[in-house]
Amino acid sequence: MKKASIVTDSSFAVGKIDPRIYGSFIEHLGRAVYGGIYEPGHPSADENGFRRDVIKLVRDLGITVVRYPGGNFVSGFEWEDSVGPRESRPKRLDLAWFTTETNEVGLHEFVDWCKKSGTEPMYSINLGTRGVDAARSIVEYANHASGSKYSDMRIANGAKEPFGIKLWCLGNEMDGPWQMGHKTAVEYGRIANEAGKIMKWVDPSIELVACGSSSSQMPTFGSWEYTMLDECYDTVDYVSLHRYYGNPTNDTPGFLARTMDLDDFIHTVVCICDSVKGKKHSRKSLNLSFDEWNVWYHSGAQDREIWKRDKWGRALPLLEDIYNFEDALLCGSILNTFLRNADRVKIACLAQLVNVIAPIMTRNGGGVWAQTTYWPMAYVSKYGRGTSLMLNVDSPVYDTSDYEKVPVVDASAVLGDDGAVALFCLNRDMEEDVLVNADLRGFGDMKLEEHVVLHHDDVKAVNTESDPDNVHPVNAAGDTLEGGRAEIKLPALSWNMLRFTKK
Ligand code: AHR
Repeated sequence: MKKASIVTDSSFAVGKIDPRIYGSFIEHLGRAVYGGIYEPGHPSADENGFRRDVIKLVRDLGITVVRYPGGNFVSGFEWEDSVGPRESRPKRLDLAWFTTETNEVGLHEFVDWCKKSGTEPMYSINLGTRGVDAARSIVEYANHASGSKYSDMRIANGAKEPFGIKLWCLGNEMDGPWQMGHKTAVEYGRIANEAGKIMKWVDPSIELVACGSSSSQMPTFGSWEYTMLDECYDTVDYVSLHRYYGNPTNDTPGFLARTMDLDDFIHTVVCICDSVKGKKHSRKSLNLSFDEWNVWYHSGAQDREIWKRDKWGRALPLLEDIYNFEDALLCGSILNTFLRNADRVKIACLAQLVNVIAPIMTRNGGGVWAQTTYWPMAYVSKYGRGTSLMLNVDSPVYDTSDYEKVPVVDASAVLGDDGAVALFCLNRDMEEDVLVNADLRGFGDMKLEEHVVLHHDDVKAVNTESDPDNVHPVNAAGDTLEGGRAEIKLPALSWNMLRFTKK
């Protein structure tokens, strides 16, 4: 058995964890909305057509904010299509995903769903085919109390109280040539600044997310952030980061090390934000909104077939990645990375939430089930609240084709407001268990409340509607805690959550 050690202490604070790092994303794409959160006529649908069985799993997942309505979709979206009487809402060609958008679910319905699911909306605006004018009118519609054209339109459409949407994304992935209305960094920075400026004139309490690069792999990554922030630094509050990983070459150790890349990505964007701050002699610091992250690569071939057969169809089963056990391990490590960077990563969205590269799957007219990737998110969002702690981890290491000295043990620690300590640990070793000696003496007299382990002998194991618990966390036994020192066994290839509470 390999050995590792962890030292942490209540005074080693990285920073307060913003609960919005447990966010997710619903785009008008595939079956995320139609057949996902919304399916009138389904046995579990409520009076507004929302599936109660889906709402239950969303609530259990502990999701805080939900980004909406896109994604690439938003760059061609006219928000006015999505309000008013349903029967007069237009059908539109969605040029992002080559489907037809019926607008049966729109802004009012989504806000209603957020209330039911215990989440907050994070609304993205179209800075692709539209601009400053639509940006101010949607904020007026959503957030202004009354007595103006758009606020009165909202009231006439049935919502007397303003929606009070706090978080707004200034477009989506505007650096990507695939985006409708793709822009250069200067063009984007200018429009983000002008749109954001007058959005805040309408409602000064809102917070704005500027589009960073759509991935750290983009050739313009770095210069995009610097250039566009030079234009809009004073207006915006966060910079977005997006990143999806895959394992197409079936290299599990390399795949599980991808969070080394994620960590570099985060640190680079922090440095760029701070260098623009320095250049501008600004007193304000920007934080990060990692508003799209996940594993995404399983569904590519299937999607191409669907588009061949049914271009312009409604609610096509697009991007329906079926996640396996190793995907769940990487998601656990991604969450560790956000926690370790909790001083600057203030928002993060697991993209997406239902059916589309999602932790929750449904069958039209049928059941709902949790994919493998549901589990680390469910536990971290529940117990990862409070203060993120620095850790000194002494772990065996391994090399991959991209990274040297990847720690076998990947960990994060959270001190809850009730004094409980949660440790989240991944053992990346394919064969060997690791015995971890955790020094927790700085927390006083604690007891080990719970050790939950996610493991499966087959890295490719999945959950299905008929076998939803195939990859599922179970309780572990056999650890010890004496004199503030814990001896914890992390089984080979496993994700673990340990909780220590005050005696
Ligand atoms: O989440 C799926 C897509 O990935 C989003 O629409 C887009 O922003 C990203 O490229």
